[in-house]
Amino acid sequence: MERTLVLLKPDAVERGLVGRLIARFEDAGFEIVEMCMERLSRDKAAAFYAEHAGKDFYDRLLDFVTRGPVVVMALQRDDAVERARQIIGATDPLAAAPGSIRGDFGLNKTFNSIHGSATREDAEREVEFFFPSVQ
Ligand code: RTP
Ligand code: MG
Repeated sequence: MERTLVLLKPDAVERGLVGRLIARFEDAGFEIVEMCMERLSRDKAAAFYAEHAGKDFYDRLLDFVTRGPVVVMALQRDDAVERARQIIGATDPLAAAPGSIRGDFGLNKTFNSIHGSATREDAEREVEFFFPSVQ
């Protein structure tokens, strides 16, 4: 069974979307393996998004994901990484399909409500990053 890392961003928590977003994954057959709510330090956010260091949106992204608590989940099902990305939708909510989470709730290309691991390798690293005790 494959795992992926999903993170509900501060704009989703602030707007009271947590329950509805978790339900979308449970309804799609994902099992919640681990879950926590935390306010990311700037150092932890910078480490999590290290691949984007130096890009023009990097500081805006770090300001955003550290402005309030996030909900982090390790989720499991067959093809978890690809299926979660489908449920989440394209990075820019304007390009995201209606019915996807970003299509329905994303505000703009930065404030897009949710993160999902992009590849299986990213998923393994990201689950380990947030939940180091998980086998
Ligand atoms: P994520 O990592 O959060 O799941 O999003 P993603 O793979 O769809 O997009 P990625 O390119 O990895 O970007 C990471 C996050 O940075 C913010 N962003 N802002 N031009 C911009 O203003 C811009 N581009 C990206 C978004 O919050 C995006 O999800
Ligand atoms: Mg990404």
